[in-house]
Amino acid sequence: MSTISQLRKLGLFDARVPRYTSYPTANHFKPTVGPRDFEAWLGAVPAGQSVSLYVHVPFCRRLCWFCACRTQGTSTAAPLRAYLDTLKTEIGLVADALPEGVTLERLHWGGGTPTLMPADMIAELAATITERLPFAPGYEFSVEIDPNEIDEDRLDALARAGLNRASIGVQDFDPTIQATIGRPQTFAVTKAAADALRARGIRSLNVDILYGLPHQNEQRISESVQQVLSLAPDRVALYGYAHVPWMARRQSMIPTDALPSPEERLGLYETARQLFVWDGFREIGIDHFAREGDGLEVADREGRLRRNFQGYTDDTAAALIGVGASSISRFPQGFAQNNASTSAYQAAIRDGRFATARGHGFSDEDRLREAMIGALMCDFRIDFAKIGAEFGLTPAQVATRLNGIDDAFPGMLAHEATAIEIRAGARPLARMIARFLDAYAVNEGGHSAAI
Ligand SMILES: C[S@@+](CC[C@H](N)C(=O)[O-])C[C@H]1O[C@@H](n2cnc3c(N)ncnc32)[C@H](O)[C@@H]1O
Ligand code: SF4
Repeated sequence: MSTISQLRKLGLFDARVPRYTSYPTANHFKPTVGPRDFEAWLGAVPAGQSVSLYVHVPFCRRLCWFCACRTQGTSTAAPLRAYLDTLKTEIGLVADALPEGVTLERLHWGGGTPTLMPADMIAELAATITERLPFAPGYEFSVEIDPNEIDEDRLDALARAGLNRASIGVQDFDPTIQATIGRPQTFAVTKAAADALRARGIRSLNVDILYGLPHQNEQRISESVQQVLSLAPDRVALYGYAHVPWMARRQSMIPTDALPSPEERLGLYETARQLFVWDGFREIGIDHFAREGDGLEVADREGRLRRNFQGYTDDTAAALIGVGASSISRFPQGFAQNNASTSAYQAAIRDGRFATARGHGFSDEDRLREAMIGALMCDFRIDFAKIGAEFGLTPAQVATRLNGIDDAFPGMLAHEATAIEIRAGARPLARMIARFLDAYAVNEGGHSAAI
């Protein structure tokens, strides 16, 4: 049987499977976690430790039709001003709840489009953060940049604030595809943004592109990848386009009949993957590529790669604190998510309260399954002995969580004495195999292994 027909038989092409950027996935968060838990978890961060901070800015000038991010359009600075004031208050509340001497290992601004803020607001936000939570030595400060929404002043403000990494959204350079997904963006504008970032000493550049877009074919994706390569990025995220018009209503602008079939999607991914690999990039997990010497490449080679809400990371901080509407924080104790409604978030913070609306407190079983799913998504391999040592379990006890896996995915896994690995041709199944380990997916047609 061909790999494609095997994958089809195993349900790959009809599966709506999470990307497992967290375990449990955010749709299982409950209102049982609230502001008091968030405050207690902040207070439990050891004094003097370094943490990571994610700042969410849910505004854009343009609302691209393909985009599944929760973001609102604005053509004026007024909503941004109000939002920035709220963020500043929230950062103050967070810093008050943290013990003394906490520093920032990572700072990431995402959205939406954080660079929608004018230069003075960028400087104000950065100063508010670093006055209370200074950068640790070797810090990384990154921002998501829409090349259509950046200029010299804003870049200068970011560089002065210590920016040393940037992520540029490309999606695809083909004009027909761009018109169909409502995202016009010339190569010249994109290159100008990349050049301007490099001219300011930004040493690491990531580019986001998508496969599975309407009218995309192998020739078009090859041309886009060649153009991406000419920007000389250090990292590339090659995401599968998620068409979910029932969640992201503007996607109904995209004609379903122009979307590639599931088999064609796999071909598009494979075409792009090969081009990156031929160009010397290392494959990182299910959808990233990194140049030799890049932090992700080194982490992957040394077995230190981790999964988080941004996809893959080499971040080692035990706490990731998210501020802004809908932001998710991860502590050793569990997840806490802010209210996703910008107005409800702002109202809570204005009242001097944290805006935590839901989350999840970890059980020991959650932590074990999180580690197993993380290993699958990062390394395509679960080492029962290594994970067992971490959780005080024997390799055999860890392996029980995978009872029945060979019946579910016959021939797709290679077994070693105390480890299991997804065979190379079966890697597109990684998310489905991860779902086998997801004890919460059982109520939604997923599969829970015996405990
Ligand atoms: C917050 S957005 C990008 C930042 C910036 N606003 C921009 O447009 O360049 C982050 C990334 O999410 C990805 N993304 C958005 N909608 C998606 C979808 N429906 N399916 C897959 N990836 C998507 C895109 O690759 C995008 O670059
Ligand atoms: S892709 Fe970027 S600019 Fe476009 S709507 Fe999404 S977040 Fe906004």
